[in-house]
Amino acid sequence: MNKIIEISDLHKVYRTGYEDLLVLHNINVSVTKNCSLTITGHSGSGKSTLLNLISGLDFPTKGRIAVNGQRVDSMNEAELTQYRSLYIGLIFQFHYLLNDFTALENVMLPHYMSGQKRKSAEERAFMLLKEVGLEERIDHYPLQLSGGERQRVAVARALINDPDLILADEPTGNLDEKNSKMVEDILFALIENHRKTMLLVTHDRNLAERGSRQMRLEHGELFEL
Ligand SMILES: Nc1ncnc2c1ncn2[C@@H]1O[C@H](COP(=O)(O)OP(=O)(O)OP(=O)(O)O)[C@@H](O)[C@H]1O
Ligand SMILES: [Mg+2]
Repeated sequence: MNKIIEISDLHKVYRTGYEDLLVLHNINVSVTKNCSLTITGHSGSGKSTLLNLISGLDFPTKGRIAVNGQRVDSMNEAELTQYRSLYIGLIFQFHYLLNDFTALENVMLPHYMSGQKRKSAEERAFMLLKEVGLEERIDHYPLQLSGGERQRVAVARALINDPDLILADEPTGNLDEKNSKMVEDILFALIENHRKTMLLVTHDRNLAERGSRQMRLEHGELFEL
């Protein structure tokens, strides 16, 4: 199957207090394998909401989301846990590394937790840390790394379980220009080398322009750019 994400008739309404907030309105989009789709939109336009729905961290009010032919919107908790651990790699603005674990341990942990042997988890984590240029920092704890280095560890970790789909939410939002550029370069190179599909949301138009396909989220709707 050539389509990795298929979203149809997707609506998301947040109900708070007295009013309903319609954040996503009739989203229809298919994403083909090996595509790097970037989505821009103003703050509050629903970018993170869309990623949260695709990663099954939140549920649609209406509509269908399928990833690799599996309906994410109707998975139970156990299925979602497995889906998130094996099929998607998440990268956020904040790295969410565990401070008590080294860079190597942070990267290998999801692999080890998914039932792989410690040795193979370690080897794969080392290989990925090398790819992001951190082979000399594997024993550093997050607090002993720079902001850019931490985000590179987070990128390596997102790939550890060889997921089909990488979902990135403003992955360089916390970095200065030089580090942003470095993390961007590494992220796009990794996606290409490992033949991954990526959906990345950002405010940053320069970053968005690197996507092989670009869309914009406005007034709850998605437009092709
Ligand atoms: N759990 C929630 N309950 C109610 N409203 C929410 C919830 N989460 C988000 N919202 C609202 O939905 C809208 C979209 O939020 P979202 O976080 O998706 O925006 P975003 O495009 O990612 O913004 P940013 O660029 O600032 O990260 C916002 O107006 C927000 O206030
Ligand atoms: Mg957001």
